[in-house]
Order: sequence, then structure tokens, then C-alpha cells
Amino acid sequence: MIDAKAPATAANPTDDEAEFTSAYEKEGVADLDPRCIPHDLNGDPPIGDEIAPPTYPQGDHETWNFLFNRQMELLPGRASETYLEGVKKLGLSNNGIPALRDLSRVLERTTNWQVARIPGLLHERDFFRLLAERKFPSTDYIRGKEELDYTPAPDMFHDIFGHMPTLTQPAFADFYQLFGKAALDAKGVDRQSLERFHWFTVEFGLVQDPAGYRIFGAGIMSSKGEVLSALSDEVEHRPFSPEGVINQDYDVWHLQPIMFVLESFEQLVEEFEGWAKSRKLL
Ligand SMILES: [Fe+2]
Repeated sequence: MIDAKAPATAANPTDDEAEFTSAYEKEGVADLDPRCIPHDLNGDPPIGDEIAPPTYPQGDHETWNFLFNRQMELLPGRASETYLEGVKKLGLSNNGIPALRDLSRVLERTTNWQVARIPGLLHERDFFRLLAERKFPSTDYIRGKEELDYTPAPDMFHDIFGHMPTLTQPAFADFYQLFGKAALDAKGVDRQSLERFHWFTVEFGLVQDPAGYRIFGAGIMSSKGEVLSALSDEVEHRPFSPEGVINQDYDVWHLQPIMFVLESFEQLVEEFEGWAKSRKLL
């Protein structure tokens, strides 16, 4: 089962009329949960210091603290050093929900990214445009207590705890901007390739650390089940290559059986750029 918040994606990469069908609509989740229908961005979302922190009920802080403690307990020996350093740089803790504008300042200082506060799932073009501008789209509301193990809808625990720590790593940060740029005008089979790239790196990627394979993908980080499964024998670990990921399909409904392992984040940015140029996307 996943906890990966993908942008809206094409129902069929060759069908332009289906362009604004989200992965959740495609899978029928949106019929069950309206939070999975992409939002229209009316104008530019607030960025960095423009983001006013909401006042959260104490129960929301408790949810954050519970999820933070539960995941952090599992991460030593499983999460990449880069990720764990990112958690420290961002100052994430079990002391309540952090403010997006504070996190944005850290990203700005470390890799020149900023945070954009968004209302929920975005249409993919808005999502890619923000990435291309080095702005990370994040929600600022948290899942309900009945959804601690899984929520089909975007929420700030996934966006912050899952995604932001690795965005403090320079090569990964450059890769993610290039990804946004490449995706902006991609069509047909390239859209499907980019969706798979995103899935097998940003959401479910592993990286080779000196001590062994380690997790950095956001879809793993924000899911207890995926963290426990990712490095086990239940998962087939393959060396990362652009050809490998773009030719590998995936199923969003089950624990992931196949993951790709990067040699380094430098490998990711170099090989993604080479592939995107070969497809004339950059
Ligand atoms: Fe995500």
C-alpha cells in the first residue's frame, strides 16, 4: 500500500483529453475521497515568508508527533545519511507541526529551494512549473487520527517528512528542478517515463550508502509498512538506470516489490539529464 502523493497524471499518455486526470481519479479513489481531485491554482500560491502558519488544534500536533516518533524509531540503519542529516537541518522534531515558512528558509539556505503552500493535489502542469522554479509544493494540513497508517489524500506529513529532508542535498535538489523542467512539455510516452522516474526515485528510491542500501524515497519515509519492507528480502533491489525505471510498471495499491538503488545523487542528476536530453525534453 502506498503513501505517495503523485501529481495529477495522464490517464493515458497518448490521450491529451485525459491530461487532467489524477492518478487517484484514474484508480477510482477520487470517487471515494474528494481530496484526491486536483485543485486549480488560482494565481501564484504563497511562497516562503508569505506563508502564514495556521493555528492547529492540539490533536493535529499530536498526530504529527505520533507519526514523527513512529517513523524516526524505524529509520536508524534504514534511512540514508543524507535524509537523516536533512531532518536535522530542517529542525523536524516531535515538538509539534513545523511552520512551512521556517522550512522554506532552511531549503533556501541549503539548496536555494523554497516552499509553496498548496491547497492539495495539483494538476500536473502546476506541479511541474513549481518544481522547475525550485519551489516545493506542500500542503499545510495533516491527516486525521483514523488515517495514521494510510491516507489516499495529500498531507503535510508526507510532504514535509517524506520529501523535504532529501531536498537539502544539492545534487538531488538540482535533479528535482530538472525533472520539473523536463516534464513541463513532455508528451506521449515521455510522460509515462517521467511518471515512472518520479515513482522509482523521488517516491520509492534507495541509495547506496557506505553501510549498505538505504531509503530516501518519500513514499517509503512516510509509511511504516514501506519502511519495514523496503530493505527486506520481500523487495527486489535493482541497480538504478534510466532504462530500468522507464520500462518498469508499478502498482500503487500494494507494498512495492521492486526498488531501484542509486550509486549516488550525483548519478541521478547526471543520468536523468542525459536521458532527458536524449528525449529533447531539456
Ligand atoms: Fe510525494
